[in-house]
Amino acid sequence: MAMVCLSDFEAYAKKYLPKIAWDFFAAGADDCCTRDENILAYKRIRFRPRMLRDVSVMDIRTKLLGTEISFPVGIAPTGFHQLAWPDGEKSTARAAKAMNTCYIASTYSTCTLEEISAAAPGGLRWFQLYIHRNRAVSQQLVQRAEALGFQGLVLTADLPYTGKRRDDVRNGFRLPPHMTLKNLEGAFEVCKMSPLDPSVTWNDIYWLRSLTHLPIIIKGILTKEDAELAVRHGVQGIIVSNHGGRQLDGGPATIDALVEVVEAVQGRVEVYLDGGIRKGSDVLKALALGAKCVFIGRPALWGLAYKGEEGLQDVLRILQDEFRLSMALAG
Ligand code: FNR
Repeated sequence: MAMVCLSDFEAYAKKYLPKIAWDFFAAGADDCCTRDENILAYKRIRFRPRMLRDVSVMDIRTKLLGTEISFPVGIAPTGFHQLAWPDGEKSTARAAKAMNTCYIASTYSTCTLEEISAAAPGGLRWFQLYIHRNRAVSQQLVQRAEALGFQGLVLTADLPYTGKRRDDVRNGFRLPPHMTLKNLEGAFEVCKMSPLDPSVTWNDIYWLRSLTHLPIIIKGILTKEDAELAVRHGVQGIIVSNHGGRQLDGGPATIDALVEVVEAVQGRVEVYLDGGIRKGSDVLKALALGAKCVFIGRPALWGLAYKGEEGLQDVLRILQDEFRLSMALAG
């Protein structure tokens, strides 16, 4: 099968992954309106292309908080990569390094942070944090990530509780017994309820600031009000995100929320976006509307499901080629 666009990887993953894993990756909350809107919203946006502008040489590199990446697409944090490929997050780290882009490793990784670092030494990585009820667990994770050379701390703000994903409920989704949340081993026994702390507020940014020198990027912002609060609390970056439509159903597509966030921030911090990026032209639309870089969630998992790190590199390379072509054709 010729893999020409990201939908080809989606079709492959749907065909070959166990149903319970496919359903978990694909899931959105409730009616999946927001998940689907993330994609539909791009189809409503049109370019105003300009002609005769000498596009024989193009530079698609950018910088994330000062560090250069080869093009403005990174890998969003997603959990449980071993459900897609046996080497899990180690393969993700290798692919990101090979393509010279940023990989945000999830708290819910099925490899340890040490394994991820060792798999691709020197790669640009950020660590994504869910704040645990037992704050010592989170503190230890943040400090481990910093010691291992992760270069940013991404605080996910949109998951005080897990959204209701109907297929996961129907399937009784849980990790197979041979996979664990390697970075939280032991930590779960401490709490009988969800281990994540729903009482987190803006003040906890100050607590995180006291733990680490890493830049803090807040993920899950959708309004100008929260963008302003994020800037005022001293974060270095904002990821406009609705968690791929897996949390609150009925919120806006991220590409629609981007504009008000960019306007509120006025260049004071870097603004990124994730959700619904499936083509190079989607990347160009997000950049044209003010994002510095975008991140892909599910498409990275489809790439892993296809052929591990090679498959993920294929996905990134296709997006890179499509992005370059869109830039050229848009002048
Ligand atoms: C996620 N996402 C996510 N976000 C996060 O901060 N920590 C996490 O552990 C996870 N886990 C996760 C698992 C799966 C299977 C999916 C699909 C998503 C959300 C993710 O970072 C990102 O916001 C979305 O995936 C972006 O949307 P697309 O690219 O999947 O459309």
